[in-house]
Order: sequence, then structure tokens, then C-alpha cells
Amino acid sequence: MQSGASGLAAAVNEARLWESLMDMARIGAIPGDGVNRACLTALDRQARRELIARAERAGAAVSVDPIGNLFLRREGSAPSLAPVLTGSHMDTQPNGGRFDGIYGVMAGLEVLAALHETGTQTKRPIEVVAWTNEEGGRFAPGCMGSMSYAGLKTPEDFFLVTDPEGVTFAAALAEHRAAEADLTQRPLGGKPFAYVEAHIEQGPRLEAADLDIGVVTGIQGSRWFTVTLRGETAHAGTAPLGLRKDAVQDAVRAIAALNALMHDPPDVLRFTVGRIEVHPNTSNSVADFVRFTIDFRHPDEGVLRARGDAVAGIVQAAVRDCTVEVEERFTAMPVEFAPMVVDAVERAAAASALGHMRLPSGAFHDAQFLVPVCPTGMIFVPCRKGISHNPAEYSTPAQLAAGTRVLAAAVAELANG
Ligand code: GLV
Ligand code: MN
Ligand code: MN
Repeated sequence: MQSGASGLAAAVNEARLWESLMDMARIGAIPGDGVNRACLTALDRQARRELIARAERAGAAVSVDPIGNLFLRREGSAPSLAPVLTGSHMDTQPNGGRFDGIYGVMAGLEVLAALHETGTQTKRPIEVVAWTNEEGGRFAPGCMGSMSYAGLKTPEDFFLVTDPEGVTFAAALAEHRAAEADLTQRPLGGKPFAYVEAHIEQGPRLEAADLDIGVVTGIQGSRWFTVTLRGETAHAGTAPLGLRKDAVQDAVRAIAALNALMHDPPDVLRFTVGRIEVHPNTSNSVADFVRFTIDFRHPDEGVLRARGDAVAGIVQAAVRDCTVEVEERFTAMPVEFAPMVVDAVERAAAASALGHMRLPSGAFHDAQFLVPVCPTGMIFVPCRKGISHNPAEYSTPAQLAAGTRVLAAAVAELANG
């Protein structure tokens, strides 16, 4: 039997990891190989119970905190030392894929299983976490669990947020906590020794470079806004255009002005209007209400601040006939990951002779909010054509296993440090 790091890497079981991901993908499956598993739903709880059963078979202790972050702990020989934390999220976008988020959780579980099978004892405990509501697809913004763990927000800050059916986050969380009252409860927060999260890249760079591993150096910043326009509904056949307060036409003006503000010839900036609600949403009535979202991202804090701060003024100046409100709902400044973790990931990739490169993340992740808490880093694996937030999201079993071997080696190294 191989010993040490190579034995641990060999114990990472590609078939078991793939099966565990495919089992999870059945919970909330949608056509085209996709998954729709929103946070704090019965489907989410079903997936969590499946995870818990597997974790217990791997000898891990389970606990849950007040915002529903779920922890699986493998004890260290020095249990009082701060743990090494790994994991990601189990919720998906409404039209999501099989790997975004869940891969980092199942990779963490596979590391626990490999440690268990090889009888490997680390000095520090290792914990795998499934963060609550990373996607923000049901309750906006995302990363509520990790922001609360990091003390940047409290769960109460989100209580009044509603989902598209009008259910508050407070009500959904209360139902969820009642359903998991049998689990060991733990307080919010912690001070891990380090955090390292595995994730699919969600972009095309690794595949294009024919590399196995992305050593993630940091995450670009994001700002989310909601724009609400209120006008007056009227008959589409009779109301003269000059007398209308048409919320759709003002939304078009606002979005056109925002496109000009966000114009970026080098194509580094990311600007998305991804959700538009219209009322009464019928062909032959003028709309009296439009609410749309803005997702704006940039790696440079100066650009993120300057153009983000201009959003409200640009929208107000563009709107002609309606009243308008602009609310900022999510702010995450760009972060740099800690050399201690970045270097450990890079060493692990090199030791396994895996092709790797350093790269920043365009997507946000829970790791962004762990940066002020402890040394943090991430591992990316390639995904086909960079497709993500899409049922067609795909990484091969071998790519996913390679990332998990790197995770195992990096976590084991950190847990003995
Ligand atoms: C995360 O899901 C993101 O939108 O970057
Ligand atoms: Mn994700
Ligand atoms: Mn996502």
C-alpha cells in the first residue's frame, strides 16, 4: 500500500466521486442534464440528507449553524487546533448544471472518505462545509451563508428578502431549521486555519490551454443593483404615446444608458441585466411596473467603485416618464488569495504532475467572504467550453478526480501545518 500523500491521492476514487455527483444531480433534475435545486427547499434538504449519510459512512461528525451552513468534521490528532475548512454550495441556479457548487462539497467528502479508508490522521481537524444560498437564485443576494459565517452580515439582515413566490427568507429558514432540528447545532462563525474550495472553472481558459488545474489567485469584484420603475397602466390601442408613463420604455432607456456607462472595449468588465419583471405583463396594456437586476463585475476596485457609484445617477437621468428607485443589494470587492494556500495548491498540482496555471476567478464564490477570516484559496478544474449556469455544464470524471486529488493533497498539507 502506498503511504502519505501518494496513498491519499490514490485513494481518491474517481468512480465513487462521479456516482455521488450523478446521485445528487437526480435531486432536482431538469431536462437536458440540468438541475434546479434552490436553497432551503425540500429538494435541498433531500440532497443534504444524502450528503449526511455519506459523511457518516466516512466517519465524519455532522453539525449545522443558525443559517443552515452544514459542516462535516473529521477529527485531528490535536482537536483543539483550528480546522482546515473546505467545501462549497449545494444550491443551483434555476436552470443550473450538475457541477457548480456541488462539486466542491462532494470533492471535500471524497477527501474525507480517502482519509478514512487510508487511516490517515492529520494534526488539525478537517471540516467540509455546504454553505447556504450561494447562488442567490431564490433569495438575492447569494453567499448569505458565508457572509454570515464571516460576520460581514447577520442572518437577520436577510430575513425580509422574499423569493419570487413572496416567501420570506426568515420563513424558509425557520422551516428548514425545524426539519434539521435533529442535527447537532453549532454557533455561527469560526476561525479556521485555512479555507480551500474546489470548483469547476465556469470559464474557457483551462480547456483552451489543455490544462488540468487552475490555481486560483483571487476573485473579481461584484456589485448587484435592483432598479424599480413605476408608471401607469393604460390601453395599448387608445392611450396616446405622449401621455403614457410606460415602465417598459423607461427600462429600455435606462438599460441603453447603462450599456453606454459599462462600455469596455478590452472586454474585461462584465455587465448583465438577467432578470426583468413586468406588470401587468400582457400584450395590450402599457406596463405600470418594471423591476430589473444589474450584475456588474470588474477585477479593478477603482473601476468597480467609479462605474458602480454612477449607476443610480445614470438611470435617473435616462428615465423620462416613471418614478425610479435604485437599490444596491450586494457588494463584494475584488480579493487576492493568500500565498500560503495558493502555493499549497500549486505544489499539490505539481506533485501530481498535473498541468496547471494561475488564474483569477470571474465568478464569485463563498471563498471571497472567507478571505478576511483566514488564509483562503481555490482550485479550478476545466469545464467543457467554459459553459456554466446552464444544464450543459460538464467536466469529465477524470478532470473532477484530478481536482479532488489536488484538494486532498493541499488539505492534508495544510492540516499538518
Ligand atoms: C456565482 O454563482 C456567480 O454568479 O458568480
Ligand atoms: Mn458555484
Ligand atoms: Mn453559480
